[in-house]
Amino acid sequence: MMILGIETSCDETSAAVVESGRKIVSNVILSQMEHETYGGVVPEIASRAHVQNLAPVVESALEEAGIGIDRLHGIAVTRGPGLPGSLIVGLSFAKVMAGIKGLPLMAVNHLEAHLTANFIGDTPPQYPFLALLVSGGHTCLIHSRFQGDHRLIGTTLDDAAGEAFDKISVFLGLGYPGGAVIEKQAECGSKDKLDFPRAYLSKDSLDFSFSGLKTAVSLFVKKWQSRHDVNNEVKLADIAASFQEAAVDVLIHKLMLARKKMEIPAVVVAGGVACNNRLRAKLLEMASAESAQVFFPRPEYCTDNGAMIAMAGYHRLLRGEHADLSMDVRSKYPIQDILPTGS
Ligand code: KG4
Ligand code: ZN
Repeated sequence: MMILGIETSCDETSAAVVESGRKIVSNVILSQMEHETYGGVVPEIASRAHVQNLAPVVESALEEAGIGIDRLHGIAVTRGPGLPGSLIVGLSFAKVMAGIKGLPLMAVNHLEAHLTANFIGDTPPQYPFLALLVSGGHTCLIHSRFQGDHRLIGTTLDDAAGEAFDKISVFLGLGYPGGAVIEKQAECGSKDKLDFPRAYLSKDSLDFSFSGLKTAVSLFVKKWQSRHDVNNEVKLADIAASFQEAAVDVLIHKLMLARKKMEIPAVVVAGGVACNNRLRAKLLEMASAESAQVFFPRPEYCTDNGAMIAMAGYHRLLRGEHADLSMDVRSKYPIQDILPTGS
């Protein structure tokens, strides 16, 4: 079964063709560069860029797959969460394609799709598992019992982890998006040079908070910049490494705490921040000490992509969960709130 997946929830326009829910036949991702100068995603610019790019991206995905629309068995599209104006572009496009061709339309929850990216490859996780979903818009802990059944058990009370990376990067003059640049800088810095705060909250809390860390780093950067010429004891790379370490420590602490509480051996990490090699290395170290199994998607499937949408859509198709053509987007769409059809 060939499924076309369409993703336009934020600033990536992506389309992919996936066969039998696992085999990635094509995956075309166009990351919008328009936002770089603004230091963050500008919603209207994002929608307009999706309008310009989506048709060519879908065309390329079909071309790379070497198939025409007639070979598709269904169309999966991100319904939410995300920027409404961006989601609307993808959903409208998918509805028209599905309507004209008489294909089933599957409305996909973006968060579930991120978790699904872990099933690409030869050693997928087994349900049940605990998931840490860390992206630019989300930081949460999820108890996944099976495909389509996920419970939120912890979330950020303020900023998402990826958002903190992006904002610190802008403060440091490294531009947007910031995750990969901060990681690169951190490689040449000392993670122990600065002791930035880790918000563990109360002993049992599975929630996150990154605004204190972000404020502490930004205040430090302001002072550091003003005395930079006379005192170069602290390098920019040290700030990046110390910030990254603080963020990674909190993510791992909460994931391990949840694992202990729920007594679930397998943990799955997903979302753009799951690309981070320090997070990967430290979590693997910790997991081996605690006999936990850890799964990460391949880096190219951590950030937003159409393949994960097609995969999640395939499972909906198998369950007969088709969306109707009057369905609307959901800018807020909690993962436990997955409904079979519109409304
Ligand atoms: O999953 P994603 O593409 O979009 C959302 O659904 O939000 O995640 C994008 C986020 C950005 O905040 C970006 O800075 C972060 O993932 N990111 C990273 C790395 N690569 C991307 N954060 C830390 N380290 C990285 N290597
Ligand atoms: Zn995402």
